[in-house]
Amino acid sequence: MALDRKTPNDLNAFWMPFTANRQFKKNPRMFVGAKDMHYTTSDGRQVLDGTAGLWCCNAGHCRPKITEAIQKQAAELDYAPAFQMGHPAAFELANRIIDIAPEGMEHVFYTNSGSESVETALKLAIAYHRARGDGARTRLIGRERGYHGVNFGGISVGGIVTNRKVFGPLVPGVDHMPHTHLPDQNAFTRGQPENGAYLADELERIVALHGAETIAAVIVEPMAGSTGVLLPPKGYLQKLREITKKHGILLIFDEVITGFGRLGSAFAAQHYGVTPDMMTTAKGLTNGVIPMGAVLTSAEVHDAFMNGPEHMIELFHGYTYSGNPIAAAAGIATLETYKEEGLFERAAELAPYWEDALHSLKGTRHVIDIRNEGLIGAVELEPIAGEPTKRAFSAFLKAYEKGILIRTTGDIIAMSPPLIISKEQIDQLVGTLKEVLETLD
Ligand SMILES: Cc1ncc(COP(=O)(O)O)c(C=O)c1O
Repeated sequence: MALDRKTPNDLNAFWMPFTANRQFKKNPRMFVGAKDMHYTTSDGRQVLDGTAGLWCCNAGHCRPKITEAIQKQAAELDYAPAFQMGHPAAFELANRIIDIAPEGMEHVFYTNSGSESVETALKLAIAYHRARGDGARTRLIGRERGYHGVNFGGISVGGIVTNRKVFGPLVPGVDHMPHTHLPDQNAFTRGQPENGAYLADELERIVALHGAETIAAVIVEPMAGSTGVLLPPKGYLQKLREITKKHGILLIFDEVITGFGRLGSAFAAQHYGVTPDMMTTAKGLTNGVIPMGAVLTSAEVHDAFMNGPEHMIELFHGYTYSGNPIAAAAGIATLETYKEEGLFERAAELAPYWEDALHSLKGTRHVIDIRNEGLIGAVELEPIAGEPTKRAFSAFLKAYEKGILIRTTGDIIAMSPPLIISKEQIDQLVGTLKEVLETLD
């Protein structure tokens, strides 16, 4: 066969994820480098990162400690089998995660992504009840507008219609609580909205419908990120915790975005003062540098599996790359960077400035709502009649031209900068966004 290879820079072969492929390939946006708060584009421009990559580079880009840890680990122990063998970095990282986790989280199960963390947690929930002789508890409850990654379990409990509707009947035995977005009552609220805690009572209705004895777990994002930054109303998460506890249902917090400092605490569980039975994480665990996720569980969940003969595998689940040495080394260096630079505290300190800056956009053209918490924020735009998503996508393209990276979902602009952002850079991000919005059709 002739070596009839495409030229390396042909764009056709790579089918890009969650991307308007045809639009992109006509007018590509390429990053070729990154440092701290900035990306470098292929045409040599600097772009301020308003999204920490995809909500994951919480310490900023190309941080030396993380880079060096990866280089060293790759040269020392590149891979170790994940099943029936161990290596020190995976244990060390697990301990360090538990050190910063809310009290009650005691074990770590490694995955390679947020989606895999979600599948793992859902499987654990069902298997946990079975291990305790409660095998009828198989039902899973998610929430409208929830995002829990893209695998079958995650899209089944998730509630974003575009991610679900073309993929068939999904996992059976799933129900959904209502989302917590009440724009009529809560628009332009700073931080947690006052109204809506009663929405947690919908769980009682679902329990009454199906019977608590059929329900394994409830999964929610404590603060829903990907759907466009929807905050939990005051008291809502506390109610969910009470209701799940009362009925013996496990509560899973999907902290893939909120984990590792985004809200100014290590996890949203601490920020909101509510501890679930399991937490799913990924993204900021390795500063986004190497794929890795982790499910955190209580001792009760873990211990339910620790029975039977000791030579037997307790849980038939895991991934070839669970706790991969290079990912584990990146994770340790990442957590050290967060700690040494006090980045979670920094996020908490900057949050009021961030809030003021974002809310200064009130009254700007097209803006119908602004939401914020920690170092995360959303600006919701009035959609163009008959052309949903187009206005926000145009804003994204213009913003990129003007040197800032934002993210859009529907007609919502979401921002979640690295926690190292300066006040001047917040001004630049918000100021540029204002200019973009004012000039948008
Ligand atoms: C809350 C939540 N769960 C799960 C995921 C999926 O993570 P991944 O893309 O790493 O599979 C995401 C990604 O944005 C997320 O925000």
